[in-house]
Amino acid sequence: MRIYVWGTGCAAGELADQGLSPERVTAFVDSAPRSERFLGRPVIRPEELAGRHFDLLLVASRQAEAIAAQAEKLGLPAEKMLFLRNNWHSVDRNRDYRTAEAVLAPAFTEELRRPRHTVCGPLWAADSALPARELENDYVRVRTLEAICARLGDVPGAAAELGVYRGAFASVINRLLPERTLYLFDTFAGFDEAEAAGEAAGFVEAHRLAGAEAVLRILPHPERAVLKPGLFPGSLQGLEERFALVSLDVDLEESTLAGLRYFVPRLSPGGFLLLHDWASPRLPGVKRALARYEEECGRRLPSVPLCDINGTLVICG
Ligand SMILES: C[S@@+](CC[C@H](N)C(=O)[O-])C[C@H]1O[C@@H](n2cnc3c(N)ncnc32)[C@H](O)[C@@H]1O
Repeated sequence: MRIYVWGTGCAAGELADQGLSPERVTAFVDSAPRSERFLGRPVIRPEELAGRHFDLLLVASRQAEAIAAQAEKLGLPAEKMLFLRNNWHSVDRNRDYRTAEAVLAPAFTEELRRPRHTVCGPLWAADSALPARELENDYVRVRTLEAICARLGDVPGAAAELGVYRGAFASVINRLLPERTLYLFDTFAGFDEAEAAGEAAGFVEAHRLAGAEAVLRILPHPERAVLKPGLFPGSLQGLEERFALVSLDVDLEESTLAGLRYFVPRLSPGGFLLLHDWASPRLPGVKRALARYEEECGRRLPSVPLCDINGTLVICG
């Protein structure tokens, strides 16, 4: 069976971790490849798919709309495509799950079949100022960020993200807060190896392919960004700042704890810190890190959990 996977990011890595062995994948597909190989398999461009025979094309990317349009242009058979991130529009893009059931773990396809469509709103808000492709990220999280940024007003301080990866969330912050400095902390080459030892291989590999320059290219206001490459907290190099908005998204326990220790005391009153994946069962270290931090401070931080895909907790300054 010839299987292709469209995407070389987290969703593709997750697929491997869910039991689809990379040896079964003929090639990964990416319109802007960062590497010639992913999980040991070749990476090809979408145009190279046209004319190739395949049984299943797994779309492991949240850019479902753009990929569906490109696939149609290339004449790829829609009935052989399965969209793994299929949760935004109130229609199901997938037509047939039978081929997928033959290659993916049953629990995985069962999960995919569950309708999870988002009805875009909320009604009280004017239409979003964000482009549709950014809303495809995690709709509830992104729209909450939009509401938070509107609420910030003249709360003093910079914005920051610890855990930038390819810059998807950072570019939304940068678009919503064009007047604020945006500090971007990441190794831009994935997790600290020692800290990630024992984590699933696809998850770790997917985060290696990042790159700071590529992040700058997707920011709407790159002149406001200050890159802080390297392993946090070493990458701080004595930085002293106040923050109005912080996005803390490093997945693992020790790095999350280091982020909380630095950013929470520097959060302006009226500011917000988004702790991503706090409720994620796949990343239990995030919740442990917050519990350890609260224990150290001897107080519970004022916070609001979101019902978004990623299980974000919003901590209030
Ligand atoms: C889940 S990704 C971030 C996703 C990103 N916020 C987005 O919008 O797509 C986690 C990132 O944290 C980074 N990271 C984890 N621990 C780190 C540390 N101690 N110092 C710097 N970067 C770290 C990894 O390199 C990876 O890019």
